[in-house]
Amino acid sequence: MVTRIKDLMNRMTLEEKIGQMTQIERYLASADVMKQYFIGSVLSGPGSVPAPKATAEDWINAVNEIQKGALSTRLGIPMIYGIDAVHGHNNVYNATIFPHNIGLGVTRQRIGAATALEVRATGIPYAFAPSIAVCRDPRWGRCYESYSEDHRIVQTMTEIISGLQGDLPANSLKGVPFVEGKSKVAACAKHFVGDGGTVGGIDENNTVIDSIGLFGIHMPAYYDSIIKGVSTVMVSYSSLNGIKMHANRDFITGFLKDILNFKGFVISDWQGIDRITSPPHANYTYSVQAGVSAGIDMVMVPINYTEFIDTLTLLVKDNVIPMSRIDDAVKRILRVKFTMGLFENPLADLSFVSQLGSQEHRELAREAVRKSLVLLKNGKITNQPLLPLPKTAPNILVAGSHADNLGYQCGGWTITWQGDTGNDLTVGTTILSAIKNTVDPSTQVTYQQNPDADFVKSNEFDYAIVVVGEVPYAEMQGDSSNLTITEPGPSTINNVCGAVKCVVVVVSGRPVVLEPYVDKIDALVAAWLPGSEGQGVADVLFGDYGFTGKLARTWFKSVDQLPMNVGDRHYDPLFPFGFGLTTQPVTRN
Ligand code: GLC
Repeated sequence: MVTRIKDLMNRMTLEEKIGQMTQIERYLASADVMKQYFIGSVLSGPGSVPAPKATAEDWINAVNEIQKGALSTRLGIPMIYGIDAVHGHNNVYNATIFPHNIGLGVTRQRIGAATALEVRATGIPYAFAPSIAVCRDPRWGRCYESYSEDHRIVQTMTEIISGLQGDLPANSLKGVPFVEGKSKVAACAKHFVGDGGTVGGIDENNTVIDSIGLFGIHMPAYYDSIIKGVSTVMVSYSSLNGIKMHANRDFITGFLKDILNFKGFVISDWQGIDRITSPPHANYTYSVQAGVSAGIDMVMVPINYTEFIDTLTLLVKDNVIPMSRIDDAVKRILRVKFTMGLFENPLADLSFVSQLGSQEHRELAREAVRKSLVLLKNGKITNQPLLPLPKTAPNILVAGSHADNLGYQCGGWTITWQGDTGNDLTVGTTILSAIKNTVDPSTQVTYQQNPDADFVKSNEFDYAIVVVGEVPYAEMQGDSSNLTITEPGPSTINNVCGAVKCVVVVVSGRPVVLEPYVDKIDALVAAWLPGSEGQGVADVLFGDYGFTGKLARTWFKSVDQLPMNVGDRHYDPLFPFGFGLTTQPVTRN
């Protein structure tokens, strides 16, 4: 492969090389643009789809159309198409939506493999996943994209890279990118480095930390990712001790490339180089110079691509950026494209179309949901547990804003950037439907989003299931200083649990304020953001499976304790890291 890269690079013009470093948005990527600017990569940002509810075939046709533009250039170098498949192929209608990372303690490699198949089903060979952020403050709007506050869990979760890309062959050199073939995708460890450690959990802000903290908490999962052959690394918007990561040559080149020997390519975040300056794009020449010189190989421009190309071309011609830096970037990009067989198979076919949202993947997601649930309380009186619930109770109530809302249970990064409300955004099973599917036909199920206490009292329910939590959010729009349950959740808890035995299921991307309600609640379940397969919640509530999940994050008592993580000197949680009650599956004759 080395000779193929060298041979190709010897024939490439500066224009063609800079084109390889340029990633643009799908909606700009006509075949003509691809050809005229030698564009090396295209992405679908969140919500960027060929058509509403586009089918796998629609996606394949759209991606192939763009690819044909790239293949029609002088050297015919295939473009690489990337997308955020961060909890399944979440941009795509009818894809299996897995629990967000916050809830993913297990089944990680199989989820990676299933996600790869669904991404390939739409003709796409590159996923901007996994996020290996170590979220240290749940006030951060991206905390649900982080597996845990404990770097060791995050390190273990890098197994998902092997699922996405395939297992690195035993005799491989460390640090080289690896993608097994047409059923696998290139992965992306993100966001390098320290994105989960910003002050107050403020998104894209400053991570103030000493070397022990940085190399002890935020860096280790990059070692595991590189050892597993991760093909790309995405740079964080955040700063490290005041230095923007997108301009941080010491860490991108000095450490990631030179010390960790990472041989894949480094990609910027969306307009990440623009945000090197405040305000963003205030000095784009400096942004391009600082970002590319720092070691960024591919720039997710992704809108003003002509300005990027012209600016970088000028910086090279003026010898501000040496040709050696451009050659290093292009060599890395070509290495990934060759490794993953993109030159041999640039165009997608229909062979994986049936994988999108397949029943097998939905069953895997359902299993992941079951294993993600954490039982925090089970009965007000010891030895009188409420869970598992009987399936044959005559009359039960289901309440809460999140019981019958597929969008809420999927959370952000689902079909659109910020996620959505309602049951039409994609295909799945709500928690309410799951409950109805599970109870005995003789059980009467009443659903009221926010019933008043009199209604609850007057109907003499055997028990109630209250599903509340957070409405969807993504990135900075999820930053929260109060971490409260979305209204009318608190009053629903008070009205229902004050009148009948209740189990409260919390659908949230992180620990939220629960302390004021815990005493009123008989049983309490953290369901995180379970995704499309709500059946997994009912499976465990009704005892077809036992509760096994443990907290991968500390559950605080009040927000003024934050940040508070396991191992801290002052550690006074409502529920500690690693906590989780268990139940046994019910054997029913
Ligand atoms: C976003 C996110 C990043 C994502 C990228 C492309 O701003 O920070 O995680 O991969 O843009 O959607």
